Amino acid sequence: MKALTLLVVLAMHVGCSLAQEADLPNDFLSKAFYKQRREELREKLPANSVAVFFANPIRNRAKDVNYVYHQDPDFFYLTGYKEPNALLLVFKEKQSASNGREYDEILFAQPRNEQAEMWNGRRLGASGVKDLLGIEQAFNNSEFRKYNLDFSKFSSVLFFDFLNDVRNDPRDSSDLYDLIAQFKVKSNYPDKSSKTLTVEPVKNNLDVQSLGKIMDNLRGIKTQEEIEMIRKAVRISCAGQAEVMKAMRPGMSEREIQGIHEFVFKKYQAEDLGYPSIVGAGHNGCILHYIDNYKPNISNKELILMDLGAEFHGYTADITRTIPVNGKFSPEQKLIYELVLKAQEEAMKICKPGTPFSELYKATRITIDKGLKELGIIQNESDKHMFYPHGCCHHIGLDVHDRGPYEKLEENMVITIEPGIYIPENSNCDKKWWGIAVRIEDDYLITRDGYEHLSASGPRTVKDIEATMKLSSPLDSFVLPDLDKK
Ligand code: GLY
Ligand code: MN
Ligand code: MN
Repeated sequence: MKALTLLVVLAMHVGCSLAQEADLPNDFLSKAFYKQRREELREKLPANSVAVFFANPIRNRAKDVNYVYHQDPDFFYLTGYKEPNALLLVFKEKQSASNGREYDEILFAQPRNEQAEMWNGRRLGASGVKDLLGIEQAFNNSEFRKYNLDFSKFSSVLFFDFLNDVRNDPRDSSDLYDLIAQFKVKSNYPDKSSKTLTVEPVKNNLDVQSLGKIMDNLRGIKTQEEIEMIRKAVRISCAGQAEVMKAMRPGMSEREIQGIHEFVFKKYQAEDLGYPSIVGAGHNGCILHYIDNYKPNISNKELILMDLGAEFHGYTADITRTIPVNGKFSPEQKLIYELVLKAQEEAMKICKPGTPFSELYKATRITIDKGLKELGIIQNESDKHMFYPHGCCHHIGLDVHDRGPYEKLEENMVITIEPGIYIPENSNCDKKWWGIAVRIEDDYLITRDGYEHLSASGPRTVKDIEATMKLSSPLDSFVLPDLDKK
């Protein structure tokens, strides 16, 4: 009877896991990719060192509900593992196990648990981590204490300072975090410019270094596999912008427009958003990271600024389009729009390996300052940062503001160029400009001698935007019942 039950359970498990396999997309990056990433990291580590990575913690939203879990991008980059309560150790040199086997990486994973998996989805467990992710050594996280890692045998220990709630969460009794207790952090980043950790070892005289620079250099240069993922995220996000252009009607709400973008993302199987969607009509566009998206009725005369990025298999786009709600730019809106576009194109002209990031910014800054002066919008030098108050470029990848070095452009970096002009109500200029906010943000792959404009399919010139907005949308016939009508 017992054996029969066991057989039935086993059969159910096999059937279940086969069905689940079939339910998964088959275009995730391969375990060979992640292994290669760990090899590259190992090459960059100093002699006789170990690098330590924690999975992101689970964050509670309220009572029984947690925020949707998202893996720490460094952890994901090195493993493809998407679960919490895990620790990855990457050793520079081979270590010897008690059975004589050699290994240079270990992942401590959250254990399989039938009950937990019934509620919250399947876990890989230590054996899944070995088989499916190709990590050499894997144990359940409950075995970490037994593993008894002696950090004093390494010349350096590299890790990120854990500024988040991992360190101080009193509910977190997982063995993994005992590791932290071996270090006493004096202060986090006392010298912000060098990002040097000041960590005082409690035990032993350990040399503790930050992983920041190594991971910046690794993640800042994308592999071909990553570029394909970003391409997909960008194409999806451009499709969202184009569909919204077709569907846009005065009287829609900011929230509704956000929903159309995000519907398109999901239609193309993007799992997530790379960052909270920004949809700001009129003067809401002047709030750089406006994510309330509250305005119920966008008016006929307004511009709407839409900064959204689909996240596909971990990789995100970052694209902004600004369009006239009624389908036609007013003369003032067009002047500001074309000035921002010119600023972006000036930066694109010098977008190639060797160009310092600061030169891209300078190209946009000079163009915008000159244009705003010619239009009589800025009268004196001190006003100039008011209307273009942000930088113009950053890396994208697993993070929207991705890790990467910020000196010079290099082949296979993927960056944004995103100048903007924002003129809030009551600005010190003619009021015909008030409430105009324009950002144009595109994504670029740096190639051997220039760039590839990844987001070119998102209509971007005045002519292309106005033409796209004339096209019909499948949503024209999508009319929901009025909830207030009996
Ligand atoms: N979406 C945030 C940014 O453009 O940097
Ligand atoms: Mn950006
Ligand atoms: Mn953006």
